This record gives sequence, C-alpha cells and structure tokens, in this order.
Amino acid sequence: MFLAQVLLVTAGKCPKVCVCDISKLTVACIGKNLTEVPSTIDEITVKLDMRNNDLQVLPKGAFLHTPYLTHLNLQRCNIMKVKEGAFRTLGRVVSLNLAYNNIEILYQESFDGLSSLKELLLDHNRVEEIQPGAFSQLGSLNMLALSHNQLVYIPNMAFQGLHNIKWLRLSHNSLNNLATEAFAGLFTLNRLSLENNELQFFPTQTMTRLPEVTRLDMSFNPMTYLGEESVCMPKLKLLYLDHMSLQDLSNMALSQAPLLSNVDLSHNQLRYLEPLQGPKELVSLNLTGNPIYCNCYMRPLREWAKQGRVRLRGSCAGPPHLSDELLEALAPLELRCRSREETLKEEFEEQEEIRESGRPTAKPTTNPKKQAKCPDNCDCNVDAQHATCEGRGHTKVPRGFHTKLQLLDLRSNHFHYLPSKSFPGTQQVVSLHLEFCKIHEIDGGAFQGMKSLYYLYLSDNDLTSLEPRAFEGAPQLTYLHLEGNRLTQFPGSAMTPLPSLLVLHLEQNAISKLEPTGLLLSVAPTLRGLYLSNNTITSIASGALDSAYLDTLHLDSNQLGEVPTNAFSKPSRLEELNLSRNSIHWVGPQAFQLVSKSLRRLYMDEMGLKKMSRESLAGLGPELKVLTLGGNQLEKLPDLSSLSGLEMISLQDNPLSCDCSLLPLRRWLENVTLEVTATCGHPPKLRGQSVMDVHIFKSCSSPPDRKPDTAPKPLKASKPKLAPLTLSPDKPQPQKTKVKVPKQTKGKPRKNVKTPGETKKIMKTVQ
Ligand SMILES: *[C@@H]1O[C@H](CO)[C@@H](O)[C@H](O)[C@H]1NC(C)=O
Ligand SMILES: *[C@@H]1O[C@H](CO)[C@@H](O)[C@H](O)[C@H]1NC(C)=O
Ligand SMILES: *[C@@H]1O[C@H](CO)[C@@H](O)[C@H](O)[C@H]1NC(C)=O
Ligand SMILES: *[C@@H]1O[C@H](CO)[C@@H](O)[C@H](O)[C@H]1NC(C)=O
Ligand SMILES: *[C@@H]1O[C@H](CO)[C@@H](O)[C@H](O)[C@H]1NC(C)=O
Repeated sequence: MFLAQVLLVTAGKCPKVCVCDISKLTVACIGKNLTEVPSTIDEITVKLDMRNNDLQVLPKGAFLHTPYLTHLNLQRCNIMKVKEGAFRTLGRVVSLNLAYNNIEILYQESFDGLSSLKELLLDHNRVEEIQPGAFSQLGSLNMLALSHNQLVYIPNMAFQGLHNIKWLRLSHNSLNNLATEAFAGLFTLNRLSLENNELQFFPTQTMTRLPEVTRLDMSFNPMTYLGEESVCMPKLKLLYLDHMSLQDLSNMALSQAPLLSNVDLSHNQLRYLEPLQGPKELVSLNLTGNPIYCNCYMRPLREWAKQGRVRLRGSCAGPPHLSDELLEALAPLELRCRSREETLKEEFEEQEEIRESGRPTAKPTTNPKKQAKCPDNCDCNVDAQHATCEGRGHTKVPRGFHTKLQLLDLRSNHFHYLPSKSFPGTQQVVSLHLEFCKIHEIDGGAFQGMKSLYYLYLSDNDLTSLEPRAFEGAPQLTYLHLEGNRLTQFPGSAMTPLPSLLVLHLEQNAISKLEPTGLLLSVAPTLRGLYLSNNTITSIASGALDSAYLDTLHLDSNQLGEVPTNAFSKPSRLEELNLSRNSIHWVGPQAFQLVSKSLRRLYMDEMGLKKMSRESLAGLGPELKVLTLGGNQLEKLPDLSSLSGLEMISLQDNPLSCDCSLLPLRRWLENVTLEVTATCGHPPKLRGQSVMDVHIFKSCSSPPDRKPDTAPKPLKASKPKLAPLTLSPDKPQPQKTKVKVPKQTKGKPRKNVKTPGETKKIMKTVQ
C-alpha cells in the first residue's frame, strides 16, 4: 500500500561510510569494519549507531567530538578494553549499548562522565572483574545488564553509586559467591535477576541489603535446601525459585518475606511441602514438575491453599491412584496416609515399579482385602475412599457405595438422563466424574445430598440446557466442568444455588449471547475463572460480566465482532483476557479502559484484526505482562509506549508497514529489553525483514514535539531546511545528487532538488 522512498541530501560532515539523518541528528555507521570512531561525525549528533565494527579498544576521550550524544550503540564491535575516561565527555548519553563485545574488566573509571546514563547494556561480554567504583559516577542509571558474562564473585560495594537503579541483571554468569555487602547501597533496586548462576545457597545476608526489591529471579541455580528465614526481603512480591535442585524447603523459609504474592517452585525435587508461614498475600504457588507425593503430609498444604485462596499449581507424582491429578483438583480429604509401614511399603513398591518399567504404571485401585460395600461392576478402594466404575456400560448410576467415599469416577458410561437424587449416600464425595456419559438431561435435585461436592465433571455430554435446580443440594460446588456440551445459553439460573462457585468451564458449547446486565453478579458473584472458548458468542450485554472477583476470562474462538468493552461497566479485577480467534477487525479507542488497572495478560491472536486505534490500549500500563497480536492483518500498531512492564509480546505474522508511521514502534522496540518478532509486510522490498533490521527508520523525521531537545538550540535553528527527494531505499545514493531546496513539502516528493554542498537522507512515504 505504501511505497517507502528515500530522500538523500548530502551533508558536509557525514563520514563516507555512514548514513546521516540531519533532521533526527542521527548517524549510523553499521558493519563497516571501522577501527575507530570517525572524527568527522557532526558534533551535534545525538544518536550514534556503530554496531558491528572492529573497535577493539575504546581510548580515553573516544567521543570528544560528539558531546551532544544521547544514544550510543557499540554492540558487536570486538571491544576488549574500555579505557578509563573513554566516555568522559558524554554527560547527555541516556543509553549506552556495549553488549556482545569482549570486555573482561570494568575499570574504576571506565564509565566516568556518563552522569545522565539510564541504561547500560554490558551483556554477552567476558566480564569477570568489576573494580571498586566502576559504576560510581552512574547516579542516574535505571537498568544495568551484566547477564551472559563470566562473573564468579561479586565483591563488596561493587555497585556503589547507583542511586537510581531499578533493575540489575546478573543472570547467566557463573556466580557462586556474593559478598555480604555486594549489593550495599542499592536502595532503589526493584528487580534483581540472578537466574542461571552457580549459587548453592540462598544469599540471605546479601539480600537483606535490598530493601525495595519486589522481584527476585533465582531460577536455575543449584540450591538444594532453603532453611528458616532464608529470604528476608520485606517488599518482595515475586520470587522465582524454579528449576533448582530443592529437596526441602522449611515452612519458615519465607517467613521474613511478608508481601510475597507469587512463588514459583516448579521443577525442583520437592516431595512434599508444608504450609508456608509468613506471606499473608500469597496468590500463587507453583509446584509444577516436582515429584509431589500426595498423601496425608500434603493435606495441610492443600487445606491452607484452599482457605487462603492460594492457587496451587502442579500435580501429584504418586501414589499411583492420584498420579497426575492436579493438586488444586484434590480435596484435602483425598490426601490420606495408611499406617507408616503400609505407606513405606507402597512407596517402595512404586519405586520398584518405576525402576522395572522405567515409568510409573497405574496400579489397580482395588485391593480385595480392603473391599467393602461396593456396587457390582465397580472397583472401590475403601482406604483411598475412591471408587471407579469407568467405562463399564452402566446405564443407571450405580448405588450402594460406602458412605465414606470421597472420589467417585463414573466417566464413560451411558446414563443419558440423571433423575433427582441420583447419588444417595454420597454426602462425603468431594469429586464426581461424569464425563462422556451421553447425558442430555439433568433433573432438579439430581445431586441432592452431596454436601461435600467440590468438583463436578460433566464435560463431553449432550446437555442442551440446564434446569434451574439442577445443582440444588450441592452448595459447596466450586469447580464445575460443563465444556463439550451443546448448551445454547449461559446456564445462569442453574448457577444461583452455588454460592462457592470459583471456576466455570463452558468451552465448546453453542452459547451465542451473554445477557442480561449484571449476569455474573447475580448468578455467580464469587466466580474467578470463566472459560467460554469455542462457543458462538456474537454479543455480550453491557455490564454482563461485572464481577467482584473474576480474574480469568477466556472468550477466544467465538464470533465477537468487537472487543466486548461494555461487558464491564465498572473497574474489575480481570487479569487474563483471551480474545483470540474472534472476528474483531477493528479495536477502537479505550477498548480496555475499565479493566486496564488489573489486566496482566491480553491475547488477541488470529482475529483478522486490520486496525487498532492509536488509543486502543489507553489506560494499560506497566502492569501488562503479556500482549499477543500474532496472525492478524495489522499494518500499523497502536501506541505501546506505556507498556513498559511487558515480559512477552507477540507481533508475528502481521504485514507491518515499514515506513515512518512505524517509527514509534521501532523506537519502542529499541527501548524495551524483550525479544520481539515483528516483520515488515510492506513495502514489497522489505517484506519478511525484521523491523529491527531495516534501516529506513533512520531517516524518518521526528514529529516536531519529539525532536531531541538535548541538542543546543542555536545550532539546531541554524540548520537549513530539508528537501524531500524520492529514491529507492535499496540503491545507494550517488554522493553528488543535485538538490534544490524550496519549502519543505509534505506528501509530494520531488526529484532532483538541489541543496548545495549537503547530503542528508530523509525518508518519505508516498501513498
Ligand atoms: C570486514 O572484514 C572482513 C574480514 O577482514 C571481511 O570479510 C568483510 O568483507 C569486511 N566487511 C566490510 C563491510 O568491509
Ligand atoms: C508454573 O511453572 C510451570 C513450569 O515452570 C510454568 O510453565 C507455568 O507457567 C507456571 N505457572 C504459573 C502460574 O506461574
Ligand atoms: C476449540 O475447538 C477445537 C476444534 O474442536 C479444538 O481443537 C480446540 O482444542 C478447542 N479449544 C478449546 C480451548 O476448547
Ligand atoms: C487463547 O486462545 C487461543 C485460541 O483459542 C489459544 O490458542 C491460546 O492457547 C489461548 N491462550 C491462553 C493463554 O489461554
Ligand atoms: C523509553 O523509555 C523511557 C523510560 O522508561 C520512557 O520515558 C520513554 O517514553 C520511552 N520511549 C518510547 C519511545 O517508548
């Protein structure tokens, strides 16, 4: 649609091998094997990009001639040594990129003079030594990246002087020791990344010097044990301890971290865990990938999580009848022990089995000796309080189970219809499986008397509607699975007798509308998770999804024609919203305003999205962690500048139009430190190229209000106006193009206009 064309004007002071853009005061000399900084760079330059050269040593005063620089990129320049005073004249630089070089030592005065520096990238070097005072002049620095280096030890006071540091990145080093005062003086640090190091012990003392840290990444360190009061960090909220070798964790390990909200302990070697004392605001505890043995020792944790509404992720590794069961799906009473000897014997047998077969096998749940009251054609394990009649061709719900039964598995039978009082004598059943039972009708009161029922699985049946009284008599019901049925309406009235309902699964039904106003508040006021993927929803009444607790909403694979902005009429707690695979071609301004304060994850892939208003994401800020927009038809993107907290963004498979209108994105990409896949779809010449690799942006003129204000005013004013000139971006411009400068005309490129003596490059888009 757009043809990007380049205008080139010759400037006297542009070094031959470089590309200069006088309007933006930028100079790029990329990949030219330069061994020194060209001395003819115009002194008013504010951005200098010298990636991929061969500088080797940065001598003292290397940038004496460019005192107005604000951005300096020296990535991949084979730099081995930064001499003391190399940057001494650069008091305006805010961003310095020295990543992917061969720097080994950070000398005491290496960074002197960089008093405005906010971001210093030193990742992917060979740094093994930080001399005292190396950073002492960097009082403005917000982010220091030292990941992927060869640090083994951090000495005392290594980061002294970083009075404004927010994020310190030390991941992927070989750190095995941190001096007690290694982090002394970092009073403003919020986030510390130490993952992928060699720390064998939690550096408790060292961490107490970090009063403001809210996020700590320690993943992939070989720690085996965390003892009492290991983590003493008063403001810590997010703690990543995954992929370590933890075999034990004291229940008091986190007692001095009262504000923790998320703890990731996934992929460790924990077999059990006691309730964690201390953190009062825990929201999520991740135990995925641990060999958790789900017996009575795990019961206190399960109860504690339930009471404190802590999301417990992960599943059981044993005993066999519970293996792969999600921890969260287990009722505390399902976590049982036999006598100590029996337990040991079972564990021993299980391990024998694993040893023999290479993987755990499901043991038959029956033990003839322990069988008591059990209907025909079912297996009951009284000790485990577990009965299964799965796939036995039952056409009526079997009766006569032991009254202590807690888990009843009836899936894959042919019940067709559940009359009222179908489950007499099951008042202790916590979990009832009725998947794949061809059920098309449930009478009112079918579950009458199931006072303890907490989990009900009715997925993959033939229900087209639900009686208002269908779940009456099961007031504890918390997790309800109705996915894979043929419901045509949101079964609101059936939810009203369920005051504890937390999670409702309705994926793969035929629901086409959500109405009326206040729907959720009236039928499921405590709901946290609502899953409506794969329905045929075309409209949602305004205010229908107002809710005091809803945090997860999946509306993906429906037929919504627009973002259901009005579904919320008041600010909500929504954290995760999936809108992927709808037919939303346009997103208007302020589409997420009412959920903007709480939203963390927003998925909008494959919607045929063509346009997003510049203000479409207004209100969303640093809280947003995940944004996906892949597989759409976007040529332009909305303003992303406020999304400074993103940890993941996907823009792939969009035909982005690589012209000046994409400049804000490109700038933003340069500003953020996460990997982004974004490729050009237009103009044809650039199709398929990464937005980060194309050079055309260099020559976009800044909108007037964005002009760098760091350059001295008089100089700027004295610059001659520029003339547009059309040229292909690919063809190198002959140096002697004749250029004539009339007034700057927008939108109408001219050829062969002359500016005597100057060559500069501008890019212009022509429709
Ligand atoms: C840089 O030097 C290398 C090896 O000396 C050479 O292969 C390469 O072509 C040079 N690149 C440029 C842009 O001069
Ligand atoms: C839990 O850990 C697993 C494995 O590391 C990870 O994939 C998952 O995203 C984590 N879940 C949460 C809620 O943090
Ligand atoms: C949606 O339906 C498709 C096709 O039946 C299925 O492959 C997919 O897993 C479903 N997604 C969800 C979230 O249910
Ligand atoms: C969002 O929905 C899409 C499309 O159904 C699905 O592929 C994706 O896994 C969902 N993502 C999450 C986090 O639910
Ligand atoms: C770059 O980041 C800074 C600091 O976070 C912010 O003030 C600025 O607006 C950002 N610029 C862009 C283009 O996103």
